[in-house]
Amino acid sequence: MARVTNQFVCKTCATVHRKWSGKCDSCGEWNTIAEESDDIIVPKGVSKAGGKPVAFTSLDGAPEERPRRMTGLAEFDRVCGGGLVTGSALLVGGDPGIGKSTLLLQAAAMLACAGVSVAYISGEEAVDQIRLRASRLKLANTPVNLASATNIRDILATLDKVGGAEVAIIDSIQTMYADNLDSAPGTVAQVRTCAQELIRVAKRRGVTIILVGHVTKEGAIAGPRVLEHMVDTVLYFEGERANQFRLLRAVKNRFGATDEIGVFEMTDAGLTEVENPSGLFISGHNDTTSGSAVFAGIEGTRPLLVEIQALVAPAPAGSPRRAVVGWDSSRLAMIIAVLQTRCSMTLGSHDVYLNVAGGLRVGEPAADLAVAAALVSAHLERPLPPRTVVFGEIGLGGEIRSVGQADARLREAEKLGFKCALTPPLSTGRQQSRKRAITSLKITEVQKLREVFDGFETTPQRGDMVSA
Ligand code: TYD
Ligand code: MG
Repeated sequence: MARVTNQFVCKTCATVHRKWSGKCDSCGEWNTIAEESDDIIVPKGVSKAGGKPVAFTSLDGAPEERPRRMTGLAEFDRVCGGGLVTGSALLVGGDPGIGKSTLLLQAAAMLACAGVSVAYISGEEAVDQIRLRASRLKLANTPVNLASATNIRDILATLDKVGGAEVAIIDSIQTMYADNLDSAPGTVAQVRTCAQELIRVAKRRGVTIILVGHVTKEGAIAGPRVLEHMVDTVLYFEGERANQFRLLRAVKNRFGATDEIGVFEMTDAGLTEVENPSGLFISGHNDTTSGSAVFAGIEGTRPLLVEIQALVAPAPAGSPRRAVVGWDSSRLAMIIAVLQTRCSMTLGSHDVYLNVAGGLRVGEPAADLAVAAALVSAHLERPLPPRTVVFGEIGLGGEIRSVGQADARLREAEKLGFKCALTPPLSTGRQQSRKRAITSLKITEVQKLREVFDGFETTPQRGDMVSA
């Protein structure tokens, strides 16, 4: 083992460099290299002397069923894949003030009330502050074991024993420090070491460890990427501070699906679960406004209707602005290019603003057609036909591609009182029969983006596009 002095470590990939540079050669990221003390020990290489051969086994055999603990917060349990797995490690990331500590305190209280031994260890807030929050949440009487600590040695001594906690919440991993390292809390070496030790205890003692992680300005969990590889589950808690809705999203889960979301509402009495969120993000939708389209989306296993708003305004000379909230900006650039090339709708001298209402972030390509419809509607200043939902993916040739779960999207739209749907061709026999089963929706299948555009252009009156 050789010790390296004066080392520079990349915060993203944890690669050690001998000198500082603006760009990390290993991961290609800019401004991620920082000087750290010589805590990271670089191994020289390992020989096989003294090693024992590993015993192999076959692929078949009954898997060991890992017991799970339900927190009682149904949305949280669902995102975790059906409760907390014993002996696993979870990482919960999110912007400051979004409600991570509130969510985990509520989960801790519910677990404690169900007789689980829960430790809530905070390195960010003093005991009094947490008590204040608990009394505001009316959880002050729950048997949660509360502590304010940052030294990982003390925390390990508390958890790594028989009768230690069954669930431990560490708020946050960036405030913890190992006293045998010289570097400050939050550095790559500290975060990695503390997480490694905690995960080791989780596996050995069957404790469920929940780590809170800060996020960087770019929205990724701060600290080395290896942190995300080390844990079993990574959840992001997101939403806009100004908006009361919060989404819990699984981005990695070794024990469940990763496309699941949980929806919460932040009230003055803490977070409350939203059990049926499908109509939540269209509450402000107005049928008579141009530039607004309702997208019938799927988040995880559930359909979710979302309003997509576009504004097209003449730009002052120079380069026009494109601003996007809640959607991918390169995808918007693509849709604008397709509209321009395939439908001759030029937006080169216009500013374009796109907003997904309610603070939601849409990742599905199925939203393409809804975005295009909102843009065309904004450009022509004509609203879409009333009570219409839209979904479909757009190809570079201007063709509309079919997307998964069309029947679930249509069924949900029908349930929420929609009358029309603009969809890709529902050509397969299965989808056709389901389409017939959905009788009350008037479905317009479009094959080319041009048809959507022409539908608007030839509309003699507001709202006649789909009925043509
Ligand atoms: P917090 O859980 O401290 O966020 P994080 O741990 O992610 O930094 O949440 C703080 C915010 O939540 C704060 O802006 C106030 C708000 N809040 C409520 O609106 N209602 C409540 O009952 C509580 C406890 C917090
Ligand atoms: Mg907090």
